[in-house]
Amino acid sequence: MAIKIDDDYIELLNKAVSGEIQAIVQYMTQHSKTEMLKMRRKLTNLEILTGKNKASVLGKLLKDISIAEMKHAEKIAERIFVLGGESTTRPSPIKIGDDLDDFLANDLQAEKEAMELYRKIIKEATERGDITTKKLFMEIYAEEEEHYWSFDEFVK
Ligand SMILES: [Fe+2]
Ligand SMILES: [Fe+2]
Repeated sequence: MAIKIDDDYIELLNKAVSGEIQAIVQYMTQHSKTEMLKMRRKLTNLEILTGKNKASVLGKLLKDISIAEMKHAEKIAERIFVLGGESTTRPSPIKIGDDLDDFLANDLQAEKEAMELYRKIIKEATERGDITTKKLFMEIYAEEEEHYWSFDEFVK
């Protein structure tokens, strides 16, 4: 059975690329902003007691996850080219925020949207007999779920 590839399918996969580029830019920008917020904020008692600064810990996590999203974008773009399509360079709307709570709300939303889209792609790839794309998105899905829970741990 041949894989059914058409413009609708490539467009759907490109939504994933747009979401990944959004996440890369969003998390990396928030990472740089945590540096600024760290200087401006007064430390809480818990931060003084534990020697851990929430802004620093979240800042490091944002950088690491941004790099993980870069790997996702690369893998998805490669798959689009293999399928004969052209991958987009356009991000989905980027939402940064003004403080750590805003960052977390926007990032939890981004991860949730990614998981919803990837569930749809996994279903579509299955129906089209595109097992390799299905496998790729199942792997990426598991990582988005981890990102979601990593961000969720920071919510008060
Ligand atoms: Fe991702
Ligand atoms: Fe993610």
